[in-house]
Amino acid sequence: MTPFKKNILKGRTALVTGGGSGIGKEIAVTLGRHGAGIVIAGRQQKRLEAACLEFDSQDIECLPIPADVRDPDQVETVVSGALNHFGRLDIVVNNAAGNFPALLDGISYNGFKSIVDIDLIGTFNVTKAAFNGYLKANGGCIVNISAPFEHWGVSYQAHVAAAKSGVDSLTRTCAVEWGPLGIRVNSVAPGAIAGTEGVRRFETAVGRGGKQVTGTARDVANAVLFLVSDGAAFINGICMRVDGGSGIDLMKIDTSR
Ligand code: NAP
Ligand code: COA
Repeated sequence: MTPFKKNILKGRTALVTGGGSGIGKEIAVTLGRHGAGIVIAGRQQKRLEAACLEFDSQDIECLPIPADVRDPDQVETVVSGALNHFGRLDIVVNNAAGNFPALLDGISYNGFKSIVDIDLIGTFNVTKAAFNGYLKANGGCIVNISAPFEHWGVSYQAHVAAAKSGVDSLTRTCAVEWGPLGIRVNSVAPGAIAGTEGVRRFETAVGRGGKQVTGTARDVANAVLFLVSDGAAFINGICMRVDGGSGIDLMKIDTSR
């Protein structure tokens, strides 16, 4: 069941990086179920192919393109592959990311750099390639998946919080520079999402915190679908938290009765 009308993205093409697993896979299938042709990119070809097989069984046309978002040449191949296959690229979702929970003194120089390279520079690489290859001339939408960390000190997540804050900043600059070209750019910041690699890693390393507010990948996918739909035509440059309010809950006291 979907709260949106079917086929609201009919005729459009969407690229979802990291679309072979977790939240990205749910975003890809959700955009596909609403009519978009789908391109998914990630490093593991088998994972991408398995996801596309699942999408095929739901009559979603899906193209898997292996690529590391850190490599501009590979990213350009993704954009040209999408255009060769579908002839257009209306929607880009920068979802690919890396994360390992570690306190600052447990993050090596290369560990910090790896996360910034994937999350922030990877987002820039894909955004720039899509802009040059299609969006500049045709308009479209970009959604960057960030995290609700921007205004906080975030233990065990120094590298991710820095990278995702950079992503939110990039979102705003793209929005103001490219809005006049008919390109809307927004972020979605998920809270803890059940059943994902991100939460599994965190709980394995750190355990469960006190008050838990957990959403689903579907919650995130629906927010992305809204932002890329015509219903969000005047929404540009925002960061939409999809976290049940946990990102603004400073006291984290369980007030349920
Ligand atoms: P996930 O399943 O591990 O998804 C990450 C995806 O990114 C994978 O499909 C991975 O595929 C791809 N990827 C990683 N490095 C890449 C690279 N260098 N180049 C290309 N693709 C790469 O994790 P997830 O939990 O669903 O996270 C998805 C997004 O949500 C991330 O942006 C994350 O920061 C964000 N987020 C998650 C949570 C949460 O609760 N899980 C909370 C806040 C934000 P390959 O390994 O095949 O490359
Ligand atoms: N604690 C501390 N440092 C860690 C670590 C951990 N749990 N995991 C990796 N690192 C460090 C490595 O030691 C290395 O630093 P070094 O060269 O100084 O030793 C650096 O991070 C890079 O690791 P490497 O495995 O070479 O990088 P990669 O580019 O192959 O992979 C990661 C990137 C580390 C983010 C990897 O976990 C990954 O690919 N993740 C994708 C999936 C994911 O993170 N999902 C959750 C998204 S929310």
